[in-house]
Parts: sequence; structure tokens; C-alpha cells
Amino acid sequence: MTKNQVITVDQSIDLPEVTINLSDDLYNEASNDNQISGEKLFSELIANCPDYYYFRSEVELIEHHASRIAGLLGRGLHVVEYGPGCEQSIKNKSLRFLSGFKSIESYCAVDVNKNFAESAARFIGANCNVKKSIHSINNCFSANLSWPDANTLLFSFGGLICNQPLAANDNLSKPLSLWRSQLQKGAHLLVSQDANQDIGKLQSAYDNKWMERLVLNSLLGSCSNKIAANNLKYKVVFDNQKQSVILGALFLQNQEIILNNKPRLVESGDFMPVVDSYKLTEEQFLNASQNAGFLPVQTFRLPNNPIVMHLLRAA
Ligand SMILES: C[S@@+](CC[C@H](N)C(=O)[O-])C[C@H]1O[C@@H](n2cnc3c(N)ncnc32)[C@H](O)[C@@H]1O
Repeated sequence: MTKNQVITVDQSIDLPEVTINLSDDLYNEASNDNQISGEKLFSELIANCPDYYYFRSEVELIEHHASRIAGLLGRGLHVVEYGPGCEQSIKNKSLRFLSGFKSIESYCAVDVNKNFAESAARFIGANCNVKKSIHSINNCFSANLSWPDANTLLFSFGGLICNQPLAANDNLSKPLSLWRSQLQKGAHLLVSQDANQDIGKLQSAYDNKWMERLVLNSLLGSCSNKIAANNLKYKVVFDNQKQSVILGALFLQNQEIILNNKPRLVESGDFMPVVDSYKLTEEQFLNASQNAGFLPVQTFRLPNNPIVMHLLRAA
């Protein structure tokens, strides 16, 4: 992708200026009759969709670098994981990563999905050498959280930090600053990032029936009134300015929807974004993290693997 090239997966729609991010519903249990469990759909996506490269590429990367990262961080570490995800994620990513450490002092999983947070804590407790304590917190990681020990490692896989509800002119420094404010100086952050800039790969990864089910289901779950599923058409849009893949739905007929208890009229042809996935270059990512108060320690990569992991230190 060259800098000035306008790339949109679909150019036939206007994006609303302010997007509402409904991603909190994406991986959760059904919240109303419109919805099936997002938790189940996410597991199905990972198990069945060969084009969803993100998962397996990251697993490879973690497997390859876990011991090296553990060696860099040393002993006595308090470990916090944001968004551990479903069982497949926990086994393939969290556990593989933490297996690189001989021992850790504590482990705490934070997830908006209660089952995910609890099963991560259970699973890591049973399979890793955690000396002192194991916790789970069922909360949003933008909540008022604080990790008081300077020897803390906060890690997050699945590109979570690049999957945030940013307003159109915002940037990645904002969620990174929030995470920085939760850490002491000297603590570490390990985050993965999809540095994929290949529009063909992005399209096949996101424009498929598994992702469609996940995204439409989340939108249906966010609306508290009944929406006819055949009034929604799944759309994948690449917003070149935001450098973000936006997944959402096009309404085919006028429809009243109730979102956050507020009724609103959506017209035929309106696009409702559900989740953004930012596709920044490594350099842009590191600039944003420096603006947020982190210093780069090392970036881990593998040849032909679009995912990279950044180890950062709170300045
Ligand atoms: C893309 S999945 C990644 C799961 C796993 N880490 C992986 O790489 O497969 C996102 C995870 O973060 C959780 N999550 C999303 N937004 C969150 C938020 N704002 N606060 C806490 N957890 C969140 C979801 O419930 C889910 O477990």
C-alpha cells in the first residue's frame, strides 16, 4: 500500500463521521433475543476460517519468541493479561507465552467476558508455575485499573490495542496512554500488532461468512428492539485515512433501532460500523506508543508473518 493510494474495499458507501463502536458485544454471551453467543461464534471463526490469518500467525510468533521474551524480563514478574479470549486463544496464546517463563509471581486476566476472564485464570493457574496469586477481573480494560508493582508485565494478544473505538481524528496514543496510566514507571507492556498492509489479504481475512456472522450478531445484540436479519448486509470497508478495516452492516430498508436505550431512525443505505481494526505500520505504532509514554524495548517478528509484537517499557 502506498501512502496516497485510496483503498477502500467497498467504495459505494459514505462512512458516518463519528462511528459507534459496538465491539463490546462482539465476544459476549447473547444479551437479547436477536443474538446468539458471540463467544461461540468467535471460537467457530478461529476453528473454521482458513483465511483469518491473524490467529495462527500470532500463535507462530508467540511460540517462536516466548522464551526470549521471558529471558529479557527476568524473574519475579506480576503478569496481567487484557482480553485473553476463548479457550482456543488461552491454550494457544496465553499458555504458550507463559510457558516460556520458569515461574511468575502472579497472573490476573481482565476481560469484558466473564467466562473468558475466569477460564484464563483457571487454565493458567493449573498449567503454569504461578507462585503467589491468580485473579480474574470481569471488566473493561478502560476501567479504573491500576497495577501497583513496577515489575509488572501487561500483555495483550489479538491486536486488542489496535481494535479500539477511536473517533475519526483520534489516534492510537489515546488507548495506549490509558494503559500507560495504569502502570508504574519501569513496568512492561507487550502488545501485538497486525502490520499487514496487503489489501487482498485483509479482504479475504475479513470478508467471509464467519466474520459476517460475528459482526452482524454483535450489531443485533446491541440493538434492544427486534431487527430483521435480512435487513442487514455485511460490509467490509478499508478507510484509508484512518488506516483501518471497518466491519459493519448496511441497512437495506428504513428501520427504527434502539441503541443504548435511544431510538433512532436508520435509513436504507446507511452503514453502521461495528468494529475497527487498525492497520498501522510498525513505525506509526511505535510513534504512538512513544507519544503515550512508552519506550521501545524490542519488536519481535518472523519472516512472512504480518503480525509483530512490541515489548515496551513505561517511561
Ligand atoms: C480479538 S479477541 C482476542 C482474544 C485473544 N487474546 C486472542 O488473541 O485470540 C478480544 C478479547 O478481548 C476482550 N475485550 C474486547 N474489548 C474489551 C474491553 N474493552 N475490555 C476488556 N476486554 C475486552 C474480548 O472479550 C475478547 O476476549
